[in-house]
Order: sequence, then structure tokens, then C-alpha cells
Amino acid sequence: MTLRTETWGLPVRAHQVASLTVTRVLSCIQPTGDVHLGNYLGALRNWVSGQHDKDVFHGIVDLHALTITEQPDVLGDSTLKLAAMLFAIGLDPDVATVFVQSHVTEHSQLGWIMECTVSFGELSRMTQFKDKTAKRVGNFISAGLFTYPALQAADIVLYDANEVPVGDDQRQHVEITRDIAIRFNHRFGDTLVIPEAVTPKAGARVMDLQDPTSKMSKSSDSDAGCIMMLDDPRAILKKFKRAVTDSDSEVYYDVKAKPGVSGLIDILAAATDQDPVTLATHYQQYGPLKNDAGEAVVAMLEPIQARYYELIDDKAELTRLLRVGADRARTVASATIDRVHNAIGLLPA
Ligand code: TYM
Repeated sequence: MTLRTETWGLPVRAHQVASLTVTRVLSCIQPTGDVHLGNYLGALRNWVSGQHDKDVFHGIVDLHALTITEQPDVLGDSTLKLAAMLFAIGLDPDVATVFVQSHVTEHSQLGWIMECTVSFGELSRMTQFKDKTAKRVGNFISAGLFTYPALQAADIVLYDANEVPVGDDQRQHVEITRDIAIRFNHRFGDTLVIPEAVTPKAGARVMDLQDPTSKMSKSSDSDAGCIMMLDDPRAILKKFKRAVTDSDSEVYYDVKAKPGVSGLIDILAAATDQDPVTLATHYQQYGPLKNDAGEAVVAMLEPIQARYYELIDDKAELTRLLRVGADRARTVASATIDRVHNAIGLLPA
């Protein structure tokens, strides 16, 4: 893309050159509840695998979590625990920029501008908004829950992200980000990079073990269907053993006809890097499939859990790492805000 050069003397070109050679990646996670297997297989694992050959930024989006937070003193603690988990899965603070959204004030600044670049109709079509409000009937539904995708668009375009590694459920939010960025560029000239969603081959939609037609989620009715990253091995094996399967006893991969079995195959395929259809041909019965899926997940999570418990003990170091991440994030984010203000033609301060 070509950027405007009449930028009140701002250092636009330096990043423009960098973005031509290195792919910029941005993705985020909310500090609401504990991290689960769906988060890990759908998104977080991809964050780690991309960090050495791409320029990666990963945010803990506490401002997004505010859309459903009504109590004091909860978010700070869950933010720190989530930071420990992100480093425990293998994000290396020397190469990956890990930061907290509220530490980089440019997110809120650009969020407002994105709100003014998206229509009420577009926001009304977001399936996540419809799902979340349906679950909150009778509870407070914040306006932030409705305008949420505008803040998410800001998170992404602030970093000139080319790629956004997410699970399937976030594809629509990346699509609307593209629409907003294209509209902004059309109105004010080429300013924002148009991002693309990247989802994994297996694990893009990890299903609930008790309700295999719904995605695994922190807010599902029972925790028996949701594998938490910090569940102990016995609990994990038990959850797999009790997983709901389908009414007949055949094993084959077909998400529509066999949601229970296909959900298990998907998890085993993602945990062992195999193709789900081929993997299914190795099984005749549900029992061994459940057993193997459980054991593969335990083997995958055990080293992460050990590392997490080491890291969570050193809160001062976690806080320091997040400060370093925020400083790095701010350098990129503030350049984008300047570029955006300049493109719109706001009067310089
Ligand atoms: P969040 O916090 O709900 O989830 C974090 C990531 O986990 C993925 N995920 C899943 N993947 C596969 N199967 C599942 N069952 C499953 N459940 C969750 C999500 O797709 C996501 O990638 N709105 C976002 C956070 C966000 C963001 C951003 C993401 C804010 N700004 C900018 C990317 C870029 C969210 O609520 O994710």
C-alpha cells in the first residue's frame, strides 16, 4: 500500500519499509475466566508458532472484558494470571510483544474513530453480539457489548497487522475490521493496513464435550464439557471419558452427522498434528478414541502447567515484562494514531 507523505513530518516511512519485509501479526484474548483448550488450539498455539519469523503483538484486552465486568478488583488479578499463561505456553518476551490493552491508551483513542467509521446496521449483524445478549437476558447489557467490534478493529489496525490468528468464532470480527479499514481508507486516503484472519487447519472450532454442537466456552453451562488449561490430568481424562458421543457406535469424521465423535477427533488431530479424516480411520470404537484424546491433551498441557506455576509466583517479573511490552506496543500504536489524525486532518495539538 502507499501511504500519504504529507504527514506533519511524522516517521511514517520507517514502518512502511519494515512492513514490506516482515509480516506483522496481532491477536488478543480477554482476561475473563480461565483459559481453555479452545483458546489454546484455536488461537494461542498459533501465536507461539509464528513468533520467530513474524513481528508479533499480543494483547490482554482488559477493556473488552469491561463490557461484562461489574465488580472491582477482579480484572487486574485475572490479567496477571493470563500473562503468566501466555508466557507459559511459550511466548518469548524477547521476540513477542505481550501487552495489556489499558496500558496503551491509543486503543481507546482509535476505538472512538472506528466507532464513527462503522454503521449501526453492521454492528447489529454481529452474531457474537446476538449470542452474548441472548445469554444475558435479564442482566445489564452494556452499550460496549454492541460497539465491541469497533474497539477490536482499533486493536488490529493500530499495529498495521497483516495477519490475525484467531479461532473460527472471531472471523466475523476480522471481516468487519476489514470493512471498517477499507471505508476509512476510502474516506481519508490510504492509511490503514487491511488485515486477514488466520485459523488453524484443526482446532479452529473446539466443541464442548457435553454439548458438541456448541463451541467450548468459558461461559458454557457446565464445566464438564470444557477443558481448562490448568485442569489436573485426572480431571481431564475424566472429562474425555464422559464426553457425549453420537447415538450409533461407528467412528468416522463428519461434523454434521457425527458432532460428538468429530469433536473428539478434531481435538486429537489438533493435539497430535494429524489430519482428522485420516485419524478417524484408525478407530472402530468410541472408548479408545476418548482415551487417546484425553492422554494426548494431558501430554500437551503438562509442561505448560508446570511452567505456569513457576511464573505465577513471580508477580514482579510478570509486571515488568508487561511494562516492557506496553512500551514497545505504544511505539507502534502512537505512530498509527498520528497517521490517522493526520489523514483525517484533525488540527495538530
Ligand atoms: P476470546 O478471549 O473469547 O478468545 C481468545 C481466542 O480463542 C479463540 N477461541 C476458540 N477457538 C477455537 N475453539 C473454541 N471453542 C474457541 N473459543 C475461543 C477465539 O477465536 C480467540 O481467537 N474478541 C476477542 C478478543 C479480541 C481480539 C482482538 C482478537 C479483542 N481484540 C483483536 C483478535 C484481534 C475474544 O473475545 O476472544
